[in-house]
Amino acid sequence: MTRYLVTGGAGFIGSNFIHYLFEKFADDVHVINLDKLTYAGNLDNLKDVEKQDNYQFVKGDICDEKIVNELMPNVDIVVNFAAESHVDRSIGRPDDFIKTDVYGAFVLLEAARKNNIKKFVQISTDEVYGSILDGSFKETDVLEPSSPYSASKAGADRLAFSYFVTYNLPVIITRCSNNYGPYQFPEKLIPLFVTNAIEDKNLPIYGDGKNVRDWIFVMDHCDAIQFLIEKGQEGQVYNIGAGNEMMNLQITDFILKALDKPKSLMTFVADRLGHDRRYSVDTSKIRSLGWTPKHNPEQAMAETVNWYAENRWWWEKLKTGEYLEFYKQNYKVRYKTD
Ligand code: NAD
Ligand code: TYD
Repeated sequence: MTRYLVTGGAGFIGSNFIHYLFEKFADDVHVINLDKLTYAGNLDNLKDVEKQDNYQFVKGDICDEKIVNELMPNVDIVVNFAAESHVDRSIGRPDDFIKTDVYGAFVLLEAARKNNIKKFVQISTDEVYGSILDGSFKETDVLEPSSPYSASKAGADRLAFSYFVTYNLPVIITRCSNNYGPYQFPEKLIPLFVTNAIEDKNLPIYGDGKNVRDWIFVMDHCDAIQFLIEKGQEGQVYNIGAGNEMMNLQITDFILKALDKPKSLMTFVADRLGHDRRYSVDTSKIRSLGWTPKHNPEQAMAETVNWYAENRWWWEKLKTGEYLEFYKQNYKVRYKTD
């Protein structure tokens, strides 16, 4: 039986990855989920697995050497999802991004090398490359991260690589594009717009809404991670994406149509500082090993919209308190469409 340490497993992608592991391996896997439970960590995401004997939740910080060193001898594979992950928050207050995304990754890497971990997957992001107007980034391209979030992720990405080169730690680094799916905190574009539209609230579009992201269904990302654990080469970086590039205006249009809501909810607000225009990754490296995304984007997006429509219990209680304060400060309305 393979034993996983999943960090940040109470967040969006981490919790989907834990579901993925149990679906794929059933009893033949053991998962320890180490999560600090920041505003983005939510044990509701894992209600269906919390009582399983092969699942253990540990509330703790990846920056805490003591906890990390206690857990590490009991696992074979580490998948590090734990991070501060929202660009807008990193613009207002980068502190925790540096602490968790860089120093936390260091604490995990140190403990991993001392315990002969069989595989260490550092979940990086396509944002480490920065923006690209034409073409797509290859794994060998220069990193030019433009937000404190992506710069922190780039730091951890290269630190993980250094542990392969220097200590021969079997590291794999993944750089995935934007994910969508169930259990995504409703501050990110898709869950924010879907839940706002359901509540007949404005959809705050930054700038001209023509920024482009390559949207991948979260379960395809999870599948790619497990594929690389099995087939990836140690010390290598792999881009992950679905080739589903969409402008924010197209995403908005899709959501409004799916929910049968009026265009008048579209509200143009002040642009994000340092807003990257387009992300695009060349995924030929992972595809040459035999991986492809399995989900049809239109269907998976429609199912995602439905999931939020049918699971108000999950997100309604998240859009309160500190969330609303952040929301008020972040959005400066420019104009609305009719
Ligand atoms: P998320 O914000 O939903 O979840 C992050 C989780 O990490 C939360 O459960 C939080 O409680 C936990 N956490 C934060 N600080 C911690 C700490 N110090 N110690 C332990 N746990 C801590 O993020 P997500 O969208 O699920 O992203 C997961 C990872 O994937 C991140 O590393 C992110 O950079 C990367 N990534 C995300 C996307 C995307 O589209 N969401 C795309 C590519 C890469
Ligand atoms: P986001 O989900 O924050 O992901 P990232 O910035 O990491 O790619 O944002 C996706 C795109 O949507 C990005 O171009 C910013 C834009 N956006 C808005 O226009 N309005 C919003 O309220 C949010 C959260 C994002």
